[in-house]
Amino acid sequence: MKVAIIKESRDGEPRVAATPETVKKIKALGTEFIVEQGAGAGSYFSDDDYREAGAELMPSAATTLGDADIVLKVLRPTTDELSSMKPGAIVAAIMSPFTDRAATEAAASANVTAFAMELMPRITRAQAMDVLSSQSNLAGYKAVVDACAAFHRAFPMMMTAAGTIPAARVFVMGAGVAGLQAVATARRLGAIVSATDVRPAAAEQVESLGATFVMVESEEAAEAETTGGYAKEMSEDYKRKQAELIASHMPKQDVVITTALIPGRPAPVLVTEEHVKSMKPGSIIVDLAVEAGGNCPLSQAGEVVEAYGVTIIGHTNVPGRLAVDASSLYARNLLNFISLLIDEEKGEVAIDWDDEIIKGTCLTREGKIIHPALAGS
Ligand code: NAI
Repeated sequence: MKVAIIKESRDGEPRVAATPETVKKIKALGTEFIVEQGAGAGSYFSDDDYREAGAELMPSAATTLGDADIVLKVLRPTTDELSSMKPGAIVAAIMSPFTDRAATEAAASANVTAFAMELMPRITRAQAMDVLSSQSNLAGYKAVVDACAAFHRAFPMMMTAAGTIPAARVFVMGAGVAGLQAVATARRLGAIVSATDVRPAAAEQVESLGATFVMVESEEAAEAETTGGYAKEMSEDYKRKQAELIASHMPKQDVVITTALIPGRPAPVLVTEEHVKSMKPGSIIVDLAVEAGGNCPLSQAGEVVEAYGVTIIGHTNVPGRLAVDASSLYARNLLNFISLLIDEEKGEVAIDWDDEIIKGTCLTREGKIIHPALAGS
């Protein structure tokens, strides 16, 4: 049985789905491992590193894919890549099934069994396979570092002979995985940090990191969280109260980092044009939700723009800006996941189709779209 990685071809993606460390561990499951030449270059893993880990190097993506029983990828395969794969092969990737249904349909037509890593159920057993967590955590850190680099003042309070510099005020909107890491990072840099979320459970986590929790008082908040731990879309009344609260908080902030997402829906607008206008010139907004439509209507995907003297940072693929760590963690998530697909003793694919993790992530099988959230829609 052969497991493969290729160089990611979409949007200059620098991450790679297996590292020399995980190649060794996947081989120990009784597989062979094949790698397209240059696959790890964007994350500074050389062909020699993979060779030393026991992989066989292949000259092109097409030859690698044509030989593989299991393909590990970062982003969903392109039509070209699918056409090079063996019928019945398995691919595990961030498949974006809700934003690119055509890619899922193409995987079904190619008779490829596709697993969407971002649909991993949020259960304890799946934590080590949770790519949203591993990547969001890095994005939260990088958002603060990006803000810091663009900010024309220091983050920590400094008492010097020439006078005192006040600490920067950082406001984090959405205190999930990315938001909590942003809070922790901004605190480490000495900022005065506050955060908000619709889920009341986030209050304790924010406060335990030494930040203040700012929240709309509402009975609706008690039901803001799904059983999966995600946020729901809130009512118009809640949104109005939230906008008022933010309006009073915003003018005092130097840096605002927004991370609010609602799975399968556009990101909620939390920072309006009026809010931006109310901020001091020289303030910074980092919109981590920009790829899902943005938490601020003025942010632009892939751009750093200025509006009313405020710099609005809308980098896309923020985890990819820390490609080495992002690849290492993503590759370990995949290693843990594919261990579920392989019978080590027989060295062959053996999938328990009743497993909650398999049912939650499998999009296509035997030429059909089988995921309940997609089938029939
Ligand atoms: P996410 O990336 O979907 O959203 C980011 C944050 O934005 C969330 O905290 C969400 O509540 C918040 N948000 C959404 N709409 C908002 C609004 N209108 N105003 C303010 N905030 C808003 O969420 P993420 O970071 O993936 O985590 C969500 C939860 O799942 C967390 O409680 C986390 O601890 C939990 N989790 C559980 C795991 C497991 O058990 N395996 C793994 C990872 C996370």
